[in-house]
Amino acid sequence: MATQTPHPHWSSRLAFVLAATGSAVGLGNIWKFPYITGQYGGGAFVLVYLLCVALVGIPILIAEVLIGRRGGKSPIGSMGGLAREAGVSGLWSGVGWLGVVTALLILSFYSVIAGWALAYIGYALTGEFTAAPSQAAPAMEALHAGLLASPGLLLLWHTLFMALTVAIVARGVRQGLERAVRLLMPGLFVLLLGLVVYAALSTGAFGRALAFLFRPDLSRLSGEAVLVAVGHAFFTLSLGLGTMMAYGSYLPRQVSIARAAFSIAILDTLVALLAGLAIFPLVFAHGLAPGAGPGLIFVSLPIAFAQIPAGSAVGAVFFLFLLIAALTSSVSLLEPAVEYLCEERGRGRLAATLAVAVAAWLLGIGSALAFNRWAGFAVFGKGFFDLLDFLTANILLPVGGLLIALFAGWRLRRETLQQELAVGARGFALWRWSLRYLAPLGVAATLLYGLL
Ligand code: TRP
Repeated sequence: MATQTPHPHWSSRLAFVLAATGSAVGLGNIWKFPYITGQYGGGAFVLVYLLCVALVGIPILIAEVLIGRRGGKSPIGSMGGLAREAGVSGLWSGVGWLGVVTALLILSFYSVIAGWALAYIGYALTGEFTAAPSQAAPAMEALHAGLLASPGLLLLWHTLFMALTVAIVARGVRQGLERAVRLLMPGLFVLLLGLVVYAALSTGAFGRALAFLFRPDLSRLSGEAVLVAVGHAFFTLSLGLGTMMAYGSYLPRQVSIARAAFSIAILDTLVALLAGLAIFPLVFAHGLAPGAGPGLIFVSLPIAFAQIPAGSAVGAVFFLFLLIAALTSSVSLLEPAVEYLCEERGRGRLAATLAVAVAAWLLGIGSALAFNRWAGFAVFGKGFFDLLDFLTANILLPVGGLLIALFAGWRLRRETLQQELAVGARGFALWRWSLRYLAPLGVAATLLYGLL
């Protein structure tokens, strides 16, 4: 009884760019980028990350969108269909399957962290962001530690976030997403800029933050740091598991994929850098440790909110925006699997969404407990949450991206690529060269070097 759901399309080029940017901009930019930059030593890490976005990320982003639009199906269907069209092994659809599994793993902990944003909206509204300047740092550290110590609270917020994600995905890509992103992006920009201005004018540590972020000290760059930077380039651009293929499959033919990809990458990078510029002055001014880990923004920003006029209101709005940014990303993690179940397996959209979300929710319980009950449990020195984060961002996404680059670079016909990507000959050659050589060799070398 495979009912064929008609395949929908974005209403315009802007709608696609907004939705794809909404997917890219999320916890990765505002929560993860600052704390891994702090952990891996600052400028040199930022430099490698920026190079990866430009040289490997953008070419693979273009490849994913292209595969999705050409295939017109879920990542599993598009990879299989294009492989058939090109006369190569149908096993390439395995990349789509790998992506679905990776997305589920990421969504599980993504929802737990996004739950923190929900909790913090509540803290802002109930006046928790208040402390005398000298007491602000210990007070906000205690607030965050208190949240992490409570499995019940973490599970409550995790559940609520997952329910919100399901509610949006079940409605379908168009209605749910376009509107949310249209409002969010300008708001997020203004708010982050305001925080950067505050940090620049009143912490006295802006120069230190600038030097930390943009003066590379290459001697501090370990193999692991390079691997994390590469992995983060994939994570932040939503690459390597088929999100951008799924979104590309809804893209009307006349839209320029290359231009859209550059817009997405530039906006995504700007948001991350703004977040870094807002947070590190606070970190240095208040004696926090840059390498403190996943709690970095949840401690540093509330310190600022405790000092500024109307700080509680500003804090509530900030965490609300962070929540929306996380939602427009979490829905994109579900989309590949949901698209597959609906269009290629004839399931209803709600049932498909629920099936995947419940699996991710269950797994997320492990990440919630990793911060308290299971804090003692570690494999390779990492707890459950760290392990999942490392496995997905630093191994599965680069492996997925590498396979996608090889598929587009070596398996799809040149004419196919040229039809989809209407760009000049130089640009095309450069793009294909990156997919064939630079991206696969670079990612493979990083994986080997970083893991061994
Ligand atoms: N890019 C998002 C962020 O930075 C997370 C995300 C959404 C993602 N979809 C993805 C990461 C697909 C990897 C692959 O928060």
